[in-house]
Amino acid sequence: MKITALQTNPVFGDREGNLARALDSMNSAEADLFMLPELFATGYLFTSREELASLAESVDGPTSAALKRFTRDRGCTLYAGIPLKQGEKIYNAGVLFNNGRIEAVYYKLHLFNNEKMIFDRSPGPMVVSDSPMASLGLMICFDWVFPEMARSLALEGAQVLCLCANLLLPFCQDAMITRSIENRVFTVLANRVGTEERGGDRLTFSGRSEIIDPYGKVLVRASADKEEVIHAEIDPKQADDKMLTPENHIFSDRRTENYLLGDWQDT
Ligand code: ACM
Repeated sequence: MKITALQTNPVFGDREGNLARALDSMNSAEADLFMLPELFATGYLFTSREELASLAESVDGPTSAALKRFTRDRGCTLYAGIPLKQGEKIYNAGVLFNNGRIEAVYYKLHLFNNEKMIFDRSPGPMVVSDSPMASLGLMICFDWVFPEMARSLALEGAQVLCLCANLLLPFCQDAMITRSIENRVFTVLANRVGTEERGGDRLTFSGRSEIIDPYGKVLVRASADKEEVIHAEIDPKQADDKMLTPENHIFSDRRTENYLLGDWQDT
């Protein structure tokens, strides 16, 4: 299974231009699975809910329509981050396209910092979706902080964790090595680069998009600050072997009856 992930530097608000550039890059690449970053067509640093509303679209909006067409013409799968309107709600979403169809929509469960002020809280659920070549676990950016998320996706059969991101903290790229090892899964991270300066805020995104195998080997990793296209060819079945030693299965060796539930309350 061939994977291509784009590391992009979108121009804030230029939805058509960002989409056209992403399609250009993907048109000159080969893949069964393409990945684009979180909010790849809009940019990240919305200054208000109104501004977000002006750039978000419904699931059958123009960005989705173009990506649907791309996957139909290329006979491939694609996971991309798009802000989605649903009635009065606006979610930070990831859409999985396959062969001209929308296969699944995932609404980011863990909103980061000021995202809590402008996006609606996701109703869930988590999504594991079977593409023609692998079972994909859908994640968006700050979801990486919660090991429960990667573990639950792996327990549901995900072979590849698909993480589209606009990372600001520098920890995720290394943390996903551990998530891959502890769940014996592949990780594909499509992150962005560049700086956005808007409304008195300045954010720099941390790049280093990567593809990691179930043993924690980084198969490819991009730079921290340049637009890049990364590729790897993987065998998703490698993720089905959960034996860490001849005597240790990473899931069935869990002692869940002893784990504290940790239903921690903010006081
Ligand atoms: C993030 O979740 N976009 C940092």
